[in-house]
Parts: sequence; structure tokens; C-alpha cells
Amino acid sequence: MPNRKNIAILCSGGDVSGMNAALKRFVEYSIAKGLTPYFVESGFEGLIDNKIYQAGYSDVAGIISRGGTKIYTSRSKRFMEQVYRKKAIDNLKSHQIEHLIVLGGDGSFKGIQVLNNESEGIGFSGIPSTIDNDIAGTEYCLGVDTALNVIKYAIDSIRDTASSFGRAFVIEAMGRECGYLALVSALTSGAEMCLIPEIPYKLDKYKERFEKEIKEGREYFIAVVSEALKNSEEIAQWFEKEIGVESRITVLGHIQRGGNPTVYDRLMAFHFVTNAIDGLLEGETCSIVCYSACGFHHKSIDDVAFKKYQIDSDLLKLGMEYGHAR
Ligand code: F6P
Repeated sequence: MPNRKNIAILCSGGDVSGMNAALKRFVEYSIAKGLTPYFVESGFEGLIDNKIYQAGYSDVAGIISRGGTKIYTSRSKRFMEQVYRKKAIDNLKSHQIEHLIVLGGDGSFKGIQVLNNESEGIGFSGIPSTIDNDIAGTEYCLGVDTALNVIKYAIDSIRDTASSFGRAFVIEAMGRECGYLALVSALTSGAEMCLIPEIPYKLDKYKERFEKEIKEGREYFIAVVSEALKNSEEIAQWFEKEIGVESRITVLGHIQRGGNPTVYDRLMAFHFVTNAIDGLLEGETCSIVCYSACGFHHKSIDDVAFKKYQIDSDLLKLGMEYGHAR
């Protein structure tokens, strides 16, 4: 029997729902392609500490419906130092690993570019995985759909109590520096206000509109704000002082990162991993699997991790209608 080549996978940075589905596909598709799959636990930290082991079907049985990642993740500070990266490369070599797939965000992709420069004979492939959906070059990152559905459920529930009391709720969504989660959540849950860093807003415009709506019978407000703006407290105060409505703040926090992955995220996990493995087998040595309406394609790390993500202009236009035109 010919020597089976070894392929490994790790999760890095914030976990997302759909990572376990990706691990399942990874094991099953690797074996189908004649490769031997390995798991690296705890991201780049585990790579440094040699937490690498061969994976089989039993390791991925029953995990598809679980959020988070069975193989743990980390944000590794040691990986910034060359001495630890050398350990990581030596560990990969000691297991004869020829391909490494990394699920993570742009920081993790910069990490694999450095690893690629400092090693020989190992191919790297990145799969965009972050609820923030803030990676340039791809229209979708694994985990976003599940996070949006968690937020949708939370906002729908908050609306029940907001309407019962006639209050304003300021709901803070994650996204790091990017307003994508907040914008899509505000639009799809019918929020009255949406504040994100990508769209300048005028509170006076909102005030004008809200006063008119109150006269017409509006009794409560839902405001979705991006964590990037760090102004939830200020906006809650504004509702009390300027609009005259009692307010509450809900910081959704890490609940947005967990939960049973949606069908879409499970399917996307399958497609991302299939494309990553196919690319590596076809000779891609250091690329990111990106998604657009035209399908999946491989892009260089320079085109992904070193460019700024821009929210789609049609979505931004919808967002502009909030504090401006209406
Ligand atoms: O990048 C994902 C994310 O959940 C961001 O939305 C958030 O700002 C950050 O991670 C939180 O990081 P931590 O889990 O380290 O608190």
C-alpha cells in the first residue's frame, strides 16, 4: 500500500459554530482522499506543545450539532516568537505532516504565512472562521449565520419585554471593529436604530424621527449598536434624556459565539473543508479558501489578511436609511 500522506487541522482565535462540522468533514474527506488526518489541539499553542494526534471516525461521531470546537482553540502570544514557531514546525515534521488547515481569522492567516516562510515541504490552507465576518476577500466566514440566528432570537425575545413595558432597549452586538453583525441583525429584526462604525450617524436625525413616531403611536424602541462604538451607555442615556423613554442595555456577549450550528453553517463547513483539501492536493501551498456568489476560490494571504474588509455596498445603503434619509 502506498504511503498515506498526513494532513492536520487546527482552530485558532475565536471559536465559531460550524467548526465541529468542519472537523467531521475533515476526517471523513481526508480518509476518502487517501490521507491520514491529524488533530492539533488548542490552536498554535498546541502546535508548539506538540498536542497533535491522529484522528479517526470515532473522534468526530456525534459532534456535528455542537457549537464550539472539540479540539479547542487559543490566541497564541508565544507564536509571535520565532523560537516557538520553530518548535511548531519541528512538531509538524516529527509527525510527517505535509498539509495543515487552519480555521481562524486574519491574525491566524498572517501566522500561517510566517510559518510557510519559515518551513519547507508543508502546504497551508486557511478557512475564514469568525462570527465578525470581517475578512477581506471572502463574502462569508464560517459561523456567521449561526451567530446571526442567535442574535435574531435574542432580539425577538427582547422585543416582547420592550413592548410590554414601553422601553427602549440598546442591544450591543459583537463584531470587534466591524459592524456587519449589528447591521444585518438590525435590518432583519426590524430594529428602529442601528449604529455601526461604517456609517456616520446623527442622533438629531433619529430624534426627529422618533418624536414623530411617538406622536403616531410608537411605544418602544429597539436599538442595535456595534461593540466597536463602545457607546451603549451613552445611547441608553440619550433615550432617557432626549426621547423621554426608560431604557435598558443588553450586551449580548459570548452567547453570540455559541449554539447549535445552522444548516447553512454545517454545509458551508463541508464546502470550505472540501475546497481546502482539494486545493492542497492540487498543489496550493499557502492560500485561503474564499467564498463569493461565484463559488469557492483560493486567494493569497496577502489578498486576504492584509486588506481591509468592506461591508457590501447594498447592505450599507440599507443601513444608511436608518439615521439619515427616513
Ligand atoms: O472575533 C470574535 C470575537 O467574538 C469578537 O466579536 C469579540 O470582539 C472578540 O472575539 C471577543 O474575544 P474574547 O473571546 O477573547 O473575549
